[in-house]
Amino acid sequence: MRFIELKKNHFNQVLDISNRTLGNNYLTKEYLNQYLSSEMNLGYVIVKQEKVIGFTSITILTPTQLKDTVLKESKWFYEISKTHKNIALRKQTIVDPNSMNQGFGNKLVELSTKEVGKICDFQLSTVWKNEEAAIMGNLLIKNGFKLCKKIANYWSEDSSLKNYQCPICGNPPCKCVTEVYIKKNAPDTI
Ligand SMILES: CC(C)(COP(=O)(O)OP(=O)(O)OC[C@H]1O[C@@H](n2cnc3c(N)ncnc32)[C@H](O)[C@@H]1OP(=O)(O)O)[C@@H](O)C(=O)NCCC(=O)NCCS
Repeated sequence: MRFIELKKNHFNQVLDISNRTLGNNYLTKEYLNQYLSSEMNLGYVIVKQEKVIGFTSITILTPTQLKDTVLKESKWFYEISKTHKNIALRKQTIVDPNSMNQGFGNKLVELSTKEVGKICDFQLSTVWKNEEAAIMGNLLIKNGFKLCKKIANYWSEDSSLKNYQCPICGNPPCKCVTEVYIKKNAPDTI
């Protein structure tokens, strides 16, 4: 198993995994392009026997950029992050359904959290609340994150605007809840 930076030749396999786990067209080639050789957008994959089996993405933002990036509760996100220079926002973590439950999700969170922790003392993750949310939430907690907030209808407007299908809600608007997890290297201030 190798944990490496995302490359262009991984795109098709990452999109295939994404279509099967996050819903059709939720991730696109254009989206993945941002994660190539960028200091602000970090993309990692786990490769086993030349096959991509997992992907995780993290974006480094200032508190103002975070406020403008989140889909809801922007003031709350700004307040909790404003004393930090940079925030690492974990975007997606996905594992090929055929390889789930073998520890790869945990490896993705563990190794990417370690990498990002070298440059950022405030890491944040918004987790889609579905039946896997318990799994992802536990993986984050295992790696030092704490659950701080739940936000209802988080993707409602975004799903309508971009017209993506939620595997649970079907056609937009998506009514799913997001959970916000935070990991700080510095002493707790929340
Ligand atoms: C969430 C996800 C990345 C986890 O990947 P994974 O490789 O299966 O994760 P791991 O094998 O490392 O860990 C799974 C853990 O959940 C536990 N688990 C498995 N099925 C479970 C279930 N139905 N209920 C509760 N826990 C469960 C496992 O026992 C394991 O716990 P452990 O580490 O204490 O043994 C993967 O399920 C996925 O891609 N889901 C769809 C996309 C998604 O929702 N991503 C998260 C938000 S973007």
